[in-house]
Order: sequence, then C-alpha cells, then structure tokens
Amino acid sequence: MQILVIGSGGREHALAWKSAQDESVSNVFVCPGNAGTALEDKITNVSIDANDFLAIENFCVRESIKLVIIGPEQPLVMGMTDYLQGKGINTFGPSQAAAQLEGSKTFSKDFFIKYGIPTAAYASFDDFGSARHYLDTIEYPTVIKADGLAAGKGVIICSNKEEAIAALNSIFKDQAFGEAGSRVVIEEFLEGEEASFIAVVSKDKIIPLATSQDHKAVGEGDIGLNTGGMGAYSPAPIIDEDINRKIIKEVMEPTMAGLISEGSPYLGFLYAGLMIKDGELKVLEFNCRFGDPETQPILLRLESSLVDLCLAAINNELDSYSIKWADKHSCGVVIASEGYPENYATDKEVTLPEQYSDDMKLFHAGTKLEDGKVLTSGGRVFCATALGDDLKEAQTKAYELVNMVSFDGAFNRTDIGFKGIK
Ligand code: AMP
Ligand code: GLY
Repeated sequence: MQILVIGSGGREHALAWKSAQDESVSNVFVCPGNAGTALEDKITNVSIDANDFLAIENFCVRESIKLVIIGPEQPLVMGMTDYLQGKGINTFGPSQAAAQLEGSKTFSKDFFIKYGIPTAAYASFDDFGSARHYLDTIEYPTVIKADGLAAGKGVIICSNKEEAIAALNSIFKDQAFGEAGSRVVIEEFLEGEEASFIAVVSKDKIIPLATSQDHKAVGEGDIGLNTGGMGAYSPAPIIDEDINRKIIKEVMEPTMAGLISEGSPYLGFLYAGLMIKDGELKVLEFNCRFGDPETQPILLRLESSLVDLCLAAINNELDSYSIKWADKHSCGVVIASEGYPENYATDKEVTLPEQYSDDMKLFHAGTKLEDGKVLTSGGRVFCATALGDDLKEAQTKAYELVNMVSFDGAFNRTDIGFKGIK
C-alpha cells in the first residue's frame, strides 16, 4: 500500500521513516517533506503545500493512498481531516472541532474547567484595556499566552507587572503573533517539572505512547527563550506508574468523554503538556498532534507497526492492537541554526556523516535538497537521535551523532536529557 505523510519537519521525517519500515508499505509520500525524506529508500517527496487540501485530495485519489497521517497542527486546525475523510480518504488526525484543543487556548481552558480537568487558574481577554486592568489584581510571576497558534512561541512568562504590560503591548499593539494574539489568556504561573504525555486516541479508546520529556528553552539549564523544543528523551522517569494512572484518569479519560459529549470524538495523536509537582499534575496545554522533537526519540523505540496503529485507530480497532517498545532509552538532540528561535540564517550547505551505527538516526527538519546538495531551510535543522541501554548511553551516542554534522552557524544544547539523568 502507499501512504502519505503531511508536513516537512523532523516529526514528519520520523513518521515517514517508521512507516516505510512496514513490508506492507510499498511507498511513503511526504507533502512536502525535507532533504531527509528525499534521501530515504521507499520515501518520495511531493511538492504540494501541506495546507493545500484540494491538491492533496487529487494526489491521494491518483496514487490510491490508503492512509494519510497529518503531522502539523496547522492543517488539522484548518480541518484537513474532515475534508479528506469527507472525500472517502482514510485520514489519521483529529477533526477541526477536536483540534480546537490546540487551536484556541481559550477553548481548551474553558474545556478543562467544564470537564474538571486540573489546570492553572486563568482569565481571557479580547482587548488591551481589560487585560491591562486585570494585571493590577494578580500575583507575579504570571503567564500571558496568545490564544491562537504561534508555533510554540506564543507564551510569555512575566516576572512582574512591567514585563506583563510589555507583553500585552507586544501582543495587542505590535501584533507580535498576528491574528493568534487577538485574544490572550493570562494564567497562574505553575512551578514543577514538565512532561509530555502522548497517546493514540480513537473515541473512548487510548493507547499511551512511551513517555518523554522535551527541553523547550533555547539555553542550557532550561533558560532563555522558548522554542518548539531543543531535544527530548524517552522514557521520562518523572512519569512513574502512579502519575501515569493519574494522567489517564484525571486528564485523558475526561477529555475523551468531554469531546464525545460535545459531538466531536477524538481521532489521532493527543499530546498533553503537563506540570508535575509533589505527585500532583496540571495540564499546561493540549496539542492535537505528535510532539516535535518528542516523535523522534519515541519512534526510535517503537518496535510494532505505526501504520497498523493508525489504521486500527481509524477503524475503531485499538483493542486488538498491541504496542511493542524496545527496552532501551532514547535521546534526541536538536541542531539549530544560529539565531533560532528568533531570526536565523538559511541556505547553509550541510556536511552529513557518511555512515553511522544502527542505533543512531539523524532526522532532518529544516533542510532541503538542491542540485544534490543539502541546504538548511529552517530554524531547527536536525534532530540527532540515538538508543542506549540507559539514558546516559543514549545521550552520549546522540552527541556523537551531533558531532558528525556541520554547517555554518549550527548550535545545539549540550545538556539534553539532564533532567532524566540527575
Ligand atoms: P504552552 O504552549 O501553553 O505549553 O506553553 C509553552 C511553555 O510555557 C510550557 O511548556 C511551559 O514551559 C511554559 N508555561 C506555560 N504555561 C505555564 C504556566 N502556567 N506556568 C509555568 N510555565 C508555563
Ligand atoms: N515539543 C513541543 C511540541 O511539539 O509542541
């Protein structure tokens, strides 16, 4: 069978690479893909924009695509799943209504309250004046979030009122996040340790994926600006059995039941970003997709078929699917381009390793293939990922792989995994 992956990041390289391992899969197309997907066996890039519904529909019909896996949030929030399913094309991803869990912070916060899901206290505002007034009534630090999609960058942590006023100015007056900032959520600052919980969900059935932890800040020791994620590892020891049970009971089950009662049952990867402290948890956010870079270390550990998993979810057969993980640890280190997450250079030629061992995998993210050369094209350029018997070994190997890649202005954090090792 032929399948199609939508997107062009490191997550999509990993989704396509894993799907291509199935014997039943003859070819994986990626719309539009990157240099990494272009260079893989059994994977073909298609130069169609990830948000072009009609062109994607036509391509699926022409190539008899048996499964579409949508990677990024944008097409999901725009309703690509509804559109393709409406044309009879098997598509793995939530409906537009369910994707609002990520598409609007106000929607998701209101949803948490309605269904008793633990989260930080908050208020939401459509205009500068009332938001500014609210700042006089709260304690600091506080957290200000653009309501809409902002590529993981729409959250500003403000240690005092002056910073909060500056944040409101940049969102409402300077429109730093464009339309996504036409509304803001102001919420209580939570302390604790963050973890990602990602599951495959189909209506009221859930298959939790291996646990993981991301490193969102650009700088060592988790300081500096927030990014889409600078590296991740799996499993995450902070999610022990007790916390795992709590996440399923207090977060996932009420969310799935809430969506069913609202008439928009969930299908797809569902990602809860959590803050954990003293055995208690609160949801920071939901993402309606797999995490990037969490996908890369998680899929490196997946031994069973990803394609069968997605098809079982679509066909409401998750009960009969059994997921298998390698009894290993994995670590993925993002190699970014100087300046990221702000302005960064592109079109730098990359030197790639000629070969590396089987327990390593270099996933491409912001790369493109031009005249046989691999050039950078994004802020996060690669995720160097490796397996080990413990996290320390996985980390050491991931950094060995990092050192085999070079381009002008490349940088990476040197401490990915430290929270799991300490
Ligand atoms: P979000 O997109 O809502 O997950 O926010 C991005 C990042 O901002 C999170 O991964 C946290 O590091 C941080 N963050 C978000 N909300 C809070 C909060 N209420 N308290 C502390 N940190 C937060
Ligand atoms: N790594 C965080 C995210 O995918 O949103």
